[in-house]
Amino acid sequence: MASGTGSLLSSLIDRADDGAPFRIVAVAVDRPCRAADIARDHGIPTVLCRVADHPDRAGWDAALTGQIEAFEPEWVVTAGFMKILGPVFLSRFGRRIVNSHPALLPSFPGAHGVADALAHGVKVTGTTVHLVDDGVDTGPILAQEPVAIHRDDTEATLHERIKSVERQLLADVVTALVTKGVVIDGRKADIP
Ligand code: GAR
Repeated sequence: MASGTGSLLSSLIDRADDGAPFRIVAVAVDRPCRAADIARDHGIPTVLCRVADHPDRAGWDAALTGQIEAFEPEWVVTAGFMKILGPVFLSRFGRRIVNSHPALLPSFPGAHGVADALAHGVKVTGTTVHLVDDGVDTGPILAQEPVAIHRDDTEATLHERIKSVERQLLADVVTALVTKGVVIDGRKADIP
């Protein structure tokens, strides 16, 4: 699932094409975006589910859940998806949703993780891959990588440096999930 330029999606597609043990069965977007173009260019079925096309957020939540359910995914990956998932979606896919975030959680959750880290003046930020729960970026952490902040960084330069690490980390975690299941702190977690 994506909303933006889709560079994380591209790294997952490349990894799958290079023989990784997963396949991307569909890409869902909440707005027309480059990520949807990338999916189409690779012949991956693409779903556009806009909040504005539904009477309310609950309607969007139910529609999005149904559209993704139709592809019977084993895992759902939010790779730059900029909407909070609704309760219907969360109860359907439970702990099988993986999110990538451009900061070292629990610091700087939410939609502005890169700008918030810069504004706070931290010297190190990074990227986190975690399971999604019903909070905002609060679910169990699967993997993290630090990224140093340079004195002359802007949000754009820092975000690009984070994303160059994030693309590898997310693809590594998805590969590990489909081969070993969920491992947290070296222990296999029991995910129903
Ligand atoms: C990534 O940095 C991802 O972590 C972030 O959007 C970017 C998507 O990049 N997601 C969030 O901030 C979600 N809170 P991309 O469009 O190039 O894949």
